[in-house]
Amino acid sequence: MGNYDKEINRRRTFAIISHPDAGKTTLTEKFLLYGGAINLAGSVKGKATARHAVSDWMEIEKERGISVTSSVLQFEYDGFCINILDTPGHQDFSEDTYRTLMAADSAVMVIDASKGVEAQTRKLFKVCGMRGIPIFTFINKMDRDANDTFELLDDIEKELGIETCPINWPIGSGKGFKGVYDRKRKCVITYSDTEKGTKEGASKEIDSNDKEGLLEAIGEDALGTLNDEIELLDGAAADFDIDQVRNGKLTPVFFGSALTNFGVQFFLEHFLEMTTTPLSRKSDAGVISPAEHDFSAFVFKIQANMNKAHRDRVAFMRICSGKYEASMEVKHVQGNRVMRLSQPQQIMADERKILDEAYAGDIIGVFDPGVFSIGDTLCMPKEEFRYEGIPTFAPEHFARVRQIDTMKRKQFVKGVEQIAQEGAIQIFREFNTGMEEIIVGVVGVLQFDVLKYRLENEYNVEIKLEPLPYEHIRWITSTDTDLDSIVGTSDMKKVTDLKDHPLLLFVNPWSVKMVLDRNEGLTLEEFGRN
Ligand code: G4P
Repeated sequence: MGNYDKEINRRRTFAIISHPDAGKTTLTEKFLLYGGAINLAGSVKGKATARHAVSDWMEIEKERGISVTSSVLQFEYDGFCINILDTPGHQDFSEDTYRTLMAADSAVMVIDASKGVEAQTRKLFKVCGMRGIPIFTFINKMDRDANDTFELLDDIEKELGIETCPINWPIGSGKGFKGVYDRKRKCVITYSDTEKGTKEGASKEIDSNDKEGLLEAIGEDALGTLNDEIELLDGAAADFDIDQVRNGKLTPVFFGSALTNFGVQFFLEHFLEMTTTPLSRKSDAGVISPAEHDFSAFVFKIQANMNKAHRDRVAFMRICSGKYEASMEVKHVQGNRVMRLSQPQQIMADERKILDEAYAGDIIGVFDPGVFSIGDTLCMPKEEFRYEGIPTFAPEHFARVRQIDTMKRKQFVKGVEQIAQEGAIQIFREFNTGMEEIIVGVVGVLQFDVLKYRLENEYNVEIKLEPLPYEHIRWITSTDTDLDSIVGTSDMKKVTDLKDHPLLLFVNPWSVKMVLDRNEGLTLEEFGRN
């Protein structure tokens, strides 16, 4: 298996996270300039197309100017093979984002220098924290007036509870932005406002001992401030410690401007040096190490209708160990069957390329005839283990959903079930009412619109959604509980999920406790399992 080592060790797989508009897309585009993009899946919003993704898979994205789906990009740079997992910024799609983070080995957090830590960053960061993966911070838009640098760092430390270590330091901001100071090499790199879309060019490097050169480049005032700030920083900031970075306890911080392409290559080079090779993953058979194990992968995302020309469903998997070779037989553990992955592919924005091979760290998309669910494991036929599940988040909004044309019952049920398998919504059936009503639960209300839109456009079924007041969901985990005999409260509803697991919905949080008190032996859990 030693021959995998080289390919695996040159892989770097990371997620890029930010609050909407901080500049994630612009930064990603600039990364791609430094290497040939060899794989694009989903969306990169091009500058020319303003707010639109290259591959908006749904009109809804265009209408609302948001990126609904996560996408995957692969490119080569300096001998590295880099996989970027883009995450949708809109809070309503947080669940998809959480899953995407599960597939990454580190995260790059983009922060708008004039805004600091924003709501969405905070949320995403929590998930990174849960996994203990390394986090790298790029403070963007230094070409605009920025908050005080120390305040920005303080904000990250306080809001996110992680120590910061600036790798470079900005000299001014906005119209007065003069460049950055490289703390390791002790030199100033002057700001050059290169044209959009070009590589970094005309920056100059001036050694910190070259007083004359510095005075000429950044002026007396800026130099005085820089000297003071560096002195303060050297005394106060955490020392760089790669182990702390790898454990997600310390975030290296970089300053730059993605739009004008300043500081991007500096970031990329330092990042690649500091981030990790594909990480080992936990399974029920112990820790699986990427280079010391044959092929294995897990499904972290299922997406339908990615490309209107191909009406299909694609399961995205993260390869966790070994090498995937075309037409190889693999075992789908949860489905308990051996199969060949149907046309594993790299998916370009407008074209698809069948893959011959892929390695641990890579993300592949395979056609899914409806067999995969989020969290499923694939491994070699002779083996059987399961990767740790991806947590599902408890839905907080519920609605009863009905098709308007009763003749379309079949398409309606098929559509709702397929969309639920993709993990975009959760569906529940009322227990024992005989009415065959479907209740939909979502984490963010925008998903209701997505459901309506997709049923109309993909399944030709119009629906009516009737909001329900439930906010609290509990799966029944005690195995000997008879659903019929549960003594409930007036605000409680008994339902079953897609996999026929029984659960209870409540309007009031205190009813949960009351029901537990009234039913001896009953145990409830807030999170479902994939
Ligand atoms: P996102 O993916 O995180 O949502 O952000 P995106 O890259 O789309 O950037 C959001 C806006 O911020 C864009 O402007 C973009 O041009 C701008 N921007 C990104 N990086 C920088 C930077 O370093 N400096 C400055 N000054 N602006 C930056 P927009 O007006 O919303 O879009 P557009 O009309 O320019 O496309």
